[in-house]
Amino acid sequence: MRLRRRHGLVCYWYDGSFVVHPYPGGDPLALHPAVAEILSAFSEWTDPAEAAEKLNHLSPGTVEQAVGELRGAGLLLAADAPEVAADERFERQWSTWSPEAAFFHYATQDVKYPETEHEGESAAGRESQAPFVLFTSYPRADRILLPRPLSTELRAPYEQVLLARHTCRDYTRDPVPLPVLSTLLATAFAPVDFIDCGRGALFRRTSPAGGARQELDAYVAVRNVTGVEPGVYHYNLREHSLELLSEGFSSADATRFCADQEWAGGAAFLVVLGLVVDRLLSKYPTPRSYRVSLLNAGHLGQTFALTATALGLGPAQTGAFHDSQLAERLGLDNIGRTPLYVLAAGHPAAEQPEAPPAAGLSTFRETALEG
Ligand SMILES: Cc1cc2nc3c(=O)[nH]c(=O)nc-3n(C[C@H](O)[C@H](O)[C@H](O)COP(=O)(O)O)c2cc1C
Repeated sequence: MRLRRRHGLVCYWYDGSFVVHPYPGGDPLALHPAVAEILSAFSEWTDPAEAAEKLNHLSPGTVEQAVGELRGAGLLLAADAPEVAADERFERQWSTWSPEAAFFHYATQDVKYPETEHEGESAAGRESQAPFVLFTSYPRADRILLPRPLSTELRAPYEQVLLARHTCRDYTRDPVPLPVLSTLLATAFAPVDFIDCGRGALFRRTSPAGGARQELDAYVAVRNVTGVEPGVYHYNLREHSLELLSEGFSSADATRFCADQEWAGGAAFLVVLGLVVDRLLSKYPTPRSYRVSLLNAGHLGQTFALTATALGLGPAQTGAFHDSQLAERLGLDNIGRTPLYVLAAGHPAAEQPEAPPAAGLSTFRETALEG
């Protein structure tokens, strides 16, 4: 009977134990580190006797016993096992997204949820939660207190805004007026109201936020805004101010940070969403909750884009950026605070040469419209 190592396997150390974690759909197992070598002998369909020859520094009995156990645990598959088809389909489907993305996806699936809907807010839940700080601030930074937003600035009809929003990759050289930036930041990121979570206050924004911890801070890299020197700022949403972190920010900086995408250099400013890890982790300790931060970032991105559009700006966003360089420039340690998403805006050019053309007959001819 020939055996092969299951495709989806990640090995790591946890709490001093060597762990083999099969996915999709497997539980992590603490095993002796020597199993890694035994599993290596089964990269291709291999007869256990052949494997035992390769592993001749181990006794045949040890190999035989380990192979039996690894097979029982589903880490080695027999050629005629019903799981083989799904394992091969998984390998094909997730392809180059495996192991990193596939492992994160499956290892955080089907977790056990708290029994009560608001367990986090129950007495027991409250006891177990670590303290956290609601706002990020840089008290010693030089700052610009921003003009207060006017409620009249966002009166564009909803449908018009929704349909007018497109990713903008061509900008004019006109600076964005400070009140416009101020309204955009306040609308997308500032508190709307404060709620009592049972152990203190939380705030809500115009976007929903899983966990309501508002773990995403807004850093603003200003290049072309009236009355604001180019530089990297933190948006202090409690004070409604821009806190200066470092002076200077050029078109070349924007392009470089955004993985050499030229359009980013034309934007008047970038907004980098930076994750404060312990703000959400202290409420939701399970790894699945990292997904919530990514989803929260998407919600903020959409609110940013719609608000920018309503204010007459062209919004853009990118997941392609140089994380470490950007973190360093923002002064984030890239451990407890790390960049997740880059948003951008500026005055849209009348012509958008970088915008994709509308699809015509020939486009549809070469498109598989059904499977
Ligand atoms: C999460 C995310 C990441 C994106 N990353 C990029 C990017 O790196 N470069 C880019 O030019 N556009 C990027 N876009 C824009 C998409 O290409 C764009 O949204 C898509 O083509 C649909 O066009 P629309 O936004 O005009 O409706 C991104 C959009 C999202 C939501």
